[in-house]
Parts: sequence; structure tokens; C-alpha cells
Amino acid sequence: MKAVILVGGQGTRLRPLTLGTPKPMVPLANMPFVSYVLEHLKKNGIEEIVFSMGYLPDGIKSYFGDGSAFGVKVTYVVEDRPLGTAGAVKNVAEHISDHDFMVLNGDILTDLDLRALIDFHQKKEAMGTIALTPVQDPTAYGLVRTGPAGEVLGFLEKPSWDQIDTNLINAGIYVLKNEVLDMIPAGIEYSFERGVFPRLVGKGLFGFGSECYWMDIGTPEKYLQAHYDILEKNVTTSVSACLDKDFVCVQGKIELHNGAKLVPPVMIGEGTRIEAGARIGRMAVIGPGCVISAGSVVEESVIQEGSTLEENVVVRRSIIARGAQIGRDTVVTAGAIVGEEAKVGGENILANNIRVYPRTVIQEGTIKF
Ligand code: GDD
Ligand code: MG
Repeated sequence: MKAVILVGGQGTRLRPLTLGTPKPMVPLANMPFVSYVLEHLKKNGIEEIVFSMGYLPDGIKSYFGDGSAFGVKVTYVVEDRPLGTAGAVKNVAEHISDHDFMVLNGDILTDLDLRALIDFHQKKEAMGTIALTPVQDPTAYGLVRTGPAGEVLGFLEKPSWDQIDTNLINAGIYVLKNEVLDMIPAGIEYSFERGVFPRLVGKGLFGFGSECYWMDIGTPEKYLQAHYDILEKNVTTSVSACLDKDFVCVQGKIELHNGAKLVPPVMIGEGTRIEAGARIGRMAVIGPGCVISAGSVVEESVIQEGSTLEENVVVRRSIIARGAQIGRDTVVTAGAIVGEEAKVGGENILANNIRVYPRTVIQEGTIKF
């Protein structure tokens, strides 16, 4: 079976992380996010993958190449304008064979049993089967009402509160019959969620619910939560094997100076230097090639590749993107995001979900909230 991964979105809710890096390439526990989707597919025996891309496609192509380094075969199709989720699949039709195929949103971290999904679809002889997952707030998703045999009775994208009568939503993973391609108009923007699925209700569309880990990493809060879940092994990924029995994962050689502390669960990328008196964790991921200077503290946060914290910096529940520099005695806290290669001078306080855009320079002692 072939799988189409949809990665054409702009990832606006993850800005500034997605301004220079497409969402699929944003590192999650030091690995581009979409490589978790690839490893999940491969683990379930799906090795032929089509990337449907739009926004910033080059980084994805150069990282995965023909896929052989990842044990899969990858084909790329780039849209010259966004075609919507279904239009994007129609656009790659020539790469899909006559059989059933799978479609996956590219921003989902899950350990869903894809083989069980395919089995269910084939037993029902369904036109389409949508994987379902329960969430607390369905308003941000596609609500799916099902009957006793799993038949879909209604599909409502981004429902309002008064429309909610189930907590089951579209998990962003489908198995579809090739005939579904005939329902999608060519060359125009068209979506599964507002077009294809509502039209398929009562015509062989099924929902498949199962117990599994599931997370859409589309917002900064969820991006952080996905890190915590990987560190706690709430979801099984290739990182799980690196986390030892004490929940510490050190990737290759690092410099850990005397008196520096790693508080698990914690993950440190190769070549990173952690100086005396610095404390990393709990719930921290430090990318490769970072410098965490003496006396700095990183908790419940992500520091991406090649960033530097000078002395006595505190980072809590925040994200520092690739190659940023944070000056001494600065505090980055409460959902702050510092964009790629930004330079934040010393003695600032960045809090309250502040977004520092890539390459911004903030002088010493200018922000205090
Ligand atoms: N190629 C291509 N072209 N891909 C696209 C396009 C497009 O025009 N538009 C969106 N995508 C990709 C995005 O990159 C993402 O991987 C996926 O399609 C879904 O888009 P999102 O923008 O993340 O949608 P959402 O999270 O608001 O809602 C979708 O996912 C939910 C589950 O997380 C819907 O499918 C909901 O029904 C679902 O519940
Ligand atoms: Mg999404």
C-alpha cells in the first residue's frame, strides 16, 4: 500500500518556528517531525511514500532524498498553489496505484496500529475509513459521528460547541479506495473534510476507533507536550530506545562539566557543552551543538540545535529555535518562543507567550515582562 503524506500547510499556528523551517522539518526531540511519520509507516509495513508539498519544499527533499537512508521509497510532488487536502491527493494521482491507498496529515504524532486500520477497511469493503481519536475539545478538529457498525453518520469540520455530541474526531489518517479520486475535482482547491467526507456519508464511509497515543503538533503548547510525551515514553518512537532506564538520552559525545546536573527525563544532542552548575531537566530537550553556560537552568523546554545560553539564563516552558543566543541573566518563560538565530541580550525577561521573530536582535535589559 502507498501512503500520501500531506505537508503543504504553512504551519501558521507554530510561527515563528515555521517561518524559515517547514512544519514537517521542525525538530521534535532532535529529529525532523515528519521522520516520525515515516518511521511509523515503515514499522507498519508501508514503504512507498508520496510527499504532497507546497510551502518550503526544498528542506524536506534534501533531507529525505529518495528515502533509501530511511528504508523507504519517497516521491515528491510540489503544488504551485495550495490545492487543499483532497486536491493535493488528486494532484499526486499518477503516483497512486489502482488499489487502496493511505493519506496522512503530516503533523500527527501517533502509534496507531495502521495494519488494524487497513484490516478494518478491507473487511468492511469500505470506500473510505477514517481513523478516529477522542479529544477534549473537538472544535479545533473534524467531528465524526458514527453508528454501531462504525458507519459514518456525519462529518463536521471545526464544529461549534452546540454541534458537539461526541468526543471522537478525525485523526487525520485515512484508507481510501482508488474510486474516491474520481470524486475530487482536478486543479482546484478541494478538501476531504468539507468536500469528500460529507459527500461520502452513507456511501461506504467508516470510522475506526482504537486505543493509541495521538497528538496534532500544530501549536506551541502541543509541540512542547509532544516532547514531554516522547521523554516519558507515553508514545513509542525510535527515541524510546535511547532513553535509558533512568530516562536520560545522550546522543553521542557531549561535554558535561563537573557540577552540571541532568534531571530526567532529559535528552541531550551530540556535541553539546553543559557547563558547571547548569541544570537541565526535568523535561528538557537540548539539540546538538548547543552551549549551556555555567549556572543556567532549562526546565520543561526545548532548545534547538546550535543555540547558546550564556551564564545564569533560565528557560522554563519555552522554546528556543535553532542558532539563537540568549544573554546572561535573561529569563525565558511561560510559553515564550525565540525564533531562529535571534540574539537576545542579557537581563531581559521574555514571558507571556512572547514570540521573538527569527534573527531579531533585542538589546540588553529592554524587555521586562
Ligand atoms: N499538500 C497540501 N496542500 N497539504 C495541505 C494543504 C494543501 O493545500 N492544506 C493543508 N495541508 C496539510 C497540512 O500540512 C497538514 O499536514 C494537513 O494537511 C492538515 O492541515 P492542518 O492545517 O494541520 O489542519 P487541521 O489540523 O486544522 O485539521 C485537520 O487535522 C485534524 C487532525 O489533526 C483536519 O483533517 C481535521 O479534520 C482533523 O481532525
Ligand atoms: Mg493540523
